[in-house]
Amino acid sequence: MHRKKFALALHSRDVAIGRSNRRSGFDHPRPSLLVLALGALIAGCERDESAPIAPRGADVTTASETRMDPETLTEGKKIFRFDTYGDETFWTDTLRMHEVISKEVSPITALSVGLKVDADALPPEIVAGIKNRTVDLNSPATTVALLKLGAVVGVVGTVEGNTLTRVGITCALCHSTVDNSFAAGIGHRLDGWPNRDLNPGAIIALSPAVTPAQRLVYNSWGPGMYDPRFNIDGLNMPVVIPPAFGLRHVKREIYTGDGVVSYWNAYVAITQMHGHGHFVDSRIGVDINNPPDLVSAKLEALRAYQFSIDAPEAPAGADKAAAQRGRAVFNGVAKCASCHLGDAKTDVNANRLHDPDEVGQDAAYALRSATKLYRTTPLRGLWHPPQLKGPYFHDGNATTLEAVVAHYTQLLGLTLTADQRADLVAYLKTL
Ligand code: HEC
Ligand code: HEC
Repeated sequence: MHRKKFALALHSRDVAIGRSNRRSGFDHPRPSLLVLALGALIAGCERDESAPIAPRGADVTTASETRMDPETLTEGKKIFRFDTYGDETFWTDTLRMHEVISKEVSPITALSVGLKVDADALPPEIVAGIKNRTVDLNSPATTVALLKLGAVVGVVGTVEGNTLTRVGITCALCHSTVDNSFAAGIGHRLDGWPNRDLNPGAIIALSPAVTPAQRLVYNSWGPGMYDPRFNIDGLNMPVVIPPAFGLRHVKREIYTGDGVVSYWNAYVAITQMHGHGHFVDSRIGVDINNPPDLVSAKLEALRAYQFSIDAPEAPAGADKAAAQRGRAVFNGVAKCASCHLGDAKTDVNANRLHDPDEVGQDAAYALRSATKLYRTTPLRGLWHPPQLKGPYFHDGNATTLEAVVAHYTQLLGLTLTADQRADLVAYLKTL
């Protein structure tokens, strides 16, 4: 029998990443960086899951070897927006969200927990009906109709007649928003933008399948926050949903730099969305197998699409002269560029991660990760209200860019004038 078996195999000796050493400023990156096995790359081969698979250039060097042909990008976009990896078995069969939505979730309720509506998926009669208020936005039946049209960003429903029978989620749920061009929460899709209005915890808490104790935790997260490790280690420490854009030249993903982009895509698809596949990382004691594998063959196109999404341009109205002065502060007296290196504005490309103390961050979240360290966040799309306006740092402990600058002023003992601080903020707003 021809079995297709695959696992993301990571071995701790292969994933060592140099720590930044403050005293000497010298790093010791290990020659062998990462062994990452992707089913997409070995599809069709039979393999023993316990054996590590040779590193693949495309995943270690990120963008340079990623195929960016139009068909791959179109495929990747479709996966990013619409693929559930079969996670309906969780969101429908386990959480019974199809029942909750049909009974309790009107479009007004959906918008209030941050769900977004893709105006381009609405036929003219619905658009007219929303405008002249003949479409009832207080009725769950309208939500079901929107799901039938494929208009709810990141939520995929199967509707038979007027009955919602299956529901699942996609990457776009947390990593897309809309431009509000039609109304608040309704507009053209903005792929890769984090949905900071989305309250994933409040949505999951609606399920009759969660225990009261879990419901308390889910309801404690708030908008724009999600804990991608709660169902693994039982701890409750949500992090800010980050953008999925501007990562083409960033070698390691997530706040703690645990792995390359496809490593994390597979982690989320299988362990968080509950899509079907096999994810293994012995560093964090995770081995989740949910056959059949509906993830690995999609990772390459998904990655190509992610890498094709650039961070947004600076918003109109940015003070360019102040930003120009702030750039000099960033690169000079404020020492920001010592970690936010180069165009990607991160030293993770130089194989550096940071002790929580070194960057003045709470160690607790890092301790749950594979590296126990923080990655210098690649600075991108920091300020694009109303969608992007903080909070900043992994746990959102800085609510504004002024608070970010205040954090570093104290941490690094900087002596910046009020003008320099304002210019620095003006610069950050253009990134
Ligand atoms: C329920 C919300 C949610 C969903 C759904 C989700 N993510 Fe995320 N994503 C997060 C959070 C929270 C983080 C931050 C995790 C961390 O850094 O520890 C994250 C991090 C990321 C990052 C890293 C960004 C960076 O700066 O390095 C990428 C890339 C990403 N997600 C892609 C995806 C893809 C692709 C999917 C679908 C397979 C997906 N996500 C589904 C919430 C979500
Ligand atoms: C010693 C290395 C280091 C220095 C110096 C440094 N940063 Fe950072 N920066 C980091 C790390 C690591 C993170 C991620 C911390 C976290 O999320 O908890 C980060 C995160 C940030 C963020 C948050 C991005 C987001 O989307 O959450 C901003 C903004 C930022 N830094 C700006 C600056 C500025 C401005 C300076 C100079 C005043 C500076 N940094 C100096 C390492 C550094």
